[in-house]
Amino acid sequence: MVPKPFELPQYLHGFNSCIILCNSADIGLIGLAVMGQNLILNMNDHGFKVCAFNRTVSKVDHFLENEAKGTNIIGAHSVEELCAKLKRPRKVMLLVKAGPAVDAFIETLLPHLEPGDIIIDGGNSHFPDTTRRCEELEKKGILYVGSGVSGGEEGARYGPSLMPGGNPKAWPEIKSIFQAVSAKAPDGQPCCDWVGEGGAGHYVKMVHNGIEYGDMQLISEVYHIMKEGLGINNDQMADIFEEWNKEELDSFLIEITRDILRFKDEDGSSLLEKILDKAGQKGTGKWTAIDSLDRGIPVTLITEAVYSRCLSSLKDERTHASKILKGPTNVKFQGDQQNFIKQIGSALYASKIVSYAQGFMLMRQAAEDFGWNLNYSGIALMWRGGCIIRSRFLGQIKDAYNNNPKLENLLFDPFFQEAAAKAQDSWRTVVGTSATLGIPAPTLSCALSFYDGLRHERLPANMIQAQRDYFGAHTYERLDQPGKYVHTNWTGTGGNVSASTYQA
Ligand SMILES: *[C@@H]1O[C@H](CO)[C@@H](O)[C@H](O)[C@H]1NC(C)=O
Ligand SMILES: *[C@@H]1O[C@H](CO)[C@@H](O)[C@H](O)[C@H]1NC(C)=O
Ligand SMILES: *[C@@H]1O[C@H](CO)[C@@H](O)[C@H](O)[C@H]1NC(C)=O
Ligand SMILES: *[C@@H]1O[C@H](CO)[C@@H](O)[C@H](O)[C@H]1NC(C)=O
Repeated sequence: MVPKPFELPQYLHGFNSCIILCNSADIGLIGLAVMGQNLILNMNDHGFKVCAFNRTVSKVDHFLENEAKGTNIIGAHSVEELCAKLKRPRKVMLLVKAGPAVDAFIETLLPHLEPGDIIIDGGNSHFPDTTRRCEELEKKGILYVGSGVSGGEEGARYGPSLMPGGNPKAWPEIKSIFQAVSAKAPDGQPCCDWVGEGGAGHYVKMVHNGIEYGDMQLISEVYHIMKEGLGINNDQMADIFEEWNKEELDSFLIEITRDILRFKDEDGSSLLEKILDKAGQKGTGKWTAIDSLDRGIPVTLITEAVYSRCLSSLKDERTHASKILKGPTNVKFQGDQQNFIKQIGSALYASKIVSYAQGFMLMRQAAEDFGWNLNYSGIALMWRGGCIIRSRFLGQIKDAYNNNPKLENLLFDPFFQEAAAKAQDSWRTVVGTSATLGIPAPTLSCALSFYDGLRHERLPANMIQAQRDYFGAHTYERLDQPGKYVHTNWTGTGGNVSASTYQA
C-alpha cells in the first residue's frame, strides 16, 4: 500500500513522485565533496537510506549516476525536496565548509523543518559557533548537533571517529546511525558517543586536532635528529619506525611515517626529500592554542607545534639566517648510535604522554568553564579508532580514566607515572644532545620542561611576584601569611599605591 502523504506542503502539490518518495529517507546529507559522498556511502552500507543534496544540483545527479549507482541512495534538487523526503523527526547533516555556509544552510532549512527535527553539522566548525547555533535553534524547537568527524576521506567511507555534542535530545534519534557508521575500537566498541552539550563535540574535535599537530611535530623532530644528528637514511629510518610501531608507539601516524620514509619518487630517490619544508595549517591547532591561553592551561606542546609550523613558513628568513647565524662548530654525535635511537623512541613516547596530559587538562578546564560533563575514558575510546591520532596508547588512556574517572592529571595515573619515570633519562639525553648538536627539538624539549615544571613544588614564580610588586605595586602573598596580599616599599621612595585588586 502506498503511504498517504500527510501534511503535504503547498510547494509540493502536484509533485507526484512524492507519493512514493516522501518521508522515506533516514537522513539527509548536504554537501557532496569527498567527505560528504563517503559518509553517505558508509551510511548506505549500514542499511540507512540517505537523501543527498548539493547546492550545485548537477553534482547530485552525477553522484547518483556514478558513485551511488546501484545503492539505495536517493537525491534531492532543492532543500525543500530534501526535507520532504525525510522521515520524522527529520535529520539533516551538513558537510559544508565551516563558517558562514553553515549559517546560510541553517537559514535555508528552517522554513522546511518543524519542532523536533535535527540539524547536524559535521564540519570543522569552531566550537563557539556551535554553542551559539545550538542555543538559537533550541528557541525554535530545532535540535542542533555539532559533531567532530575525524579520519579523513578513508575514515568517512569505512568508519570515522565521531564526536557529537549539542542538544542532548537529539542523541537518542541519531545514535543508531552514528554508532553504526563510526569506526570500531579493537574490542569492537564504537568510536562514537555523546560528548556533551552545546559546542562540546566540536571542542573535543578541536583538541583532537591540536594533539594531532603535536604528534606530527614530535615525529618530524625525531626524523630531523636521526637524519642530521646520526646521518641515518630514510630507508633505515623506515625500519626504525616499523619497529616502533610494534611497541608502545604503535599508531597510525608512526605507520604512515614509515611508509612516507620508504616512498620513492619516479627517479628512485626519496620523495620526502623533494618536498618544500613549509608546513600548512587550517586553523584547528591555532584554535586549541588560543583557547588554552583563554583558559589559562599550559598546553605548551601543541602551541609550540603551531609555532613550529609558523617558523617553517618563514622560509626566506630561514634561508638568510642559515647563512649568517652561527651554530655549534665541529660537534658530531659521539656515542652508541643504536642505543641513542632507542633513547629517541623513549623521548618521543614521554613527550607524547605530556602532550595528551596537557590536552586532557585543557578539556577538564573547558568542562568546568562550560558546565560540560565530559567522559574522558569515553573520549579516549572515541579516538582509539578511525581518527588520525588513533593508537595503542589511547587504550591505556581509556584505562587510566576508567580506573579513576576523576583523575586530576594523566601523569598521575600509575601507568603513565611509571612510563615517564622509565623514559626520563633517555628523554633528557635526547633533548640535551639535540641542543648540543644545534638541531631544533622544540616540542621534545618543551614537553620535558613542562614535566620538570609540574614536578617542582616550588617554582621561581616568587621572583616574578617580587618584580611585579617592585615596579607595579601588584602585591604578593607571603608563604607565612597565606591568603593575605601585601605590598613592600622596595626602594624607599615608592608611593603608597598597591594594585590590590589586580592579581592576574
Ligand atoms: C557541492 O559539491 C562540491 C563538490 O562536488 C563541493 O565542493 C561543495 O562544497 C558542495 N557544496 C554544497 C554547499 O553542497
Ligand atoms: C564513559 O565512557 C566509557 C567508555 O565508553 C563507559 O564505559 C562509561 O560507562 C562512561 N561513563 C559514564 C559515567 O558515562
Ligand atoms: C618608603 O620608604 C621610605 C624610606 O624608608 C619612606 O621615606 C617612604 O615614606 C616610604 N613610602 C611609603 C609609601 O611608605
Ligand atoms: C600608606 O598606606 C598605609 C596602609 O594603607 C597607611 O596606614 C599609611 O598612612 C599610608 N601612608 C601614606 C604616606 O599615605
